[in-house]
Amino acid sequence: MGLRAVVLGIPGVGKTTVVDKMVSGYKGAKLANFGTLMLETGVAMKLVKHRDEMRKLPVEKQRRLQRAAAARIAGMKEKLVVIDTHLFIRTPEGFWPGLPFEVVRAMKPTHLILIEATPEEIAARRASDTTRYRDAVTKETLAEELALARSFLTASSTLTGAPMAIVRNAQGKQDEVAEGLVKMLEGASR
Ligand code: AP5
Repeated sequence: MGLRAVVLGIPGVGKTTVVDKMVSGYKGAKLANFGTLMLETGVAMKLVKHRDEMRKLPVEKQRRLQRAAAARIAGMKEKLVVIDTHLFIRTPEGFWPGLPFEVVRAMKPTHLILIEATPEEIAARRASDTTRYRDAVTKETLAEELALARSFLTASSTLTGAPMAIVRNAQGKQDEVAEGLVKMLEGASR
């Protein structure tokens, strides 16, 4: 089994931007976008048409999509699999874990990486992305979600034994952030 880096962060921190750059910067890496894998199953089951509808489904339906995505990722055998996913989902039924025990056990992470940005940066990045249906939230709510992400992260690290890195994706620094993470993972595979 190779390395399995799970990259996490609340929507708008720039997680997917950093993940894509990590995958291009590490020879032989494979991208696993958890939301995309869930969406493929959700569309096939005629439950949703786009990714921002998934978090509004009843949690029991989301759970079926979540388990299907985790099973597909569990079968990936590349030397580095970079998994782009979430520590929690804001659903109408409350915050719901993105990495409950059965999911994290199936994915066997070797590294947990939390991407962070300031509430101001997150709000601006969400506003600039017109391709998505973002929930409107205040900067105070974003600050609460950032704190909540850290608490879910420590739980995942304790459950899996994987080290957790917390990385700030400062404005304009996405290339440096991705390069730093690639170096860290190259060091881990020596
Ligand atoms: P997902 O696909 O992860 O969507 P998301 O949460 O909305 O996250 P994004 O990818 O849109 O935001 P991002 O923070 O990665 O920001 P981005 O790089 O685009 O998840 C979709 C859905 O799947 C979830 O809502 C959920 O329903 C489901 N899901 C996923 N995992 C799940 C799980 N484990 N369990 C259950 N459900 C799950 O960047 C945003 C903008 O900022 C861009 O314009 C970018 O260019 C810019 N930017 C990025 N970095 C910088 C920087 N350093 N400086 C300036 N601009 C920057």
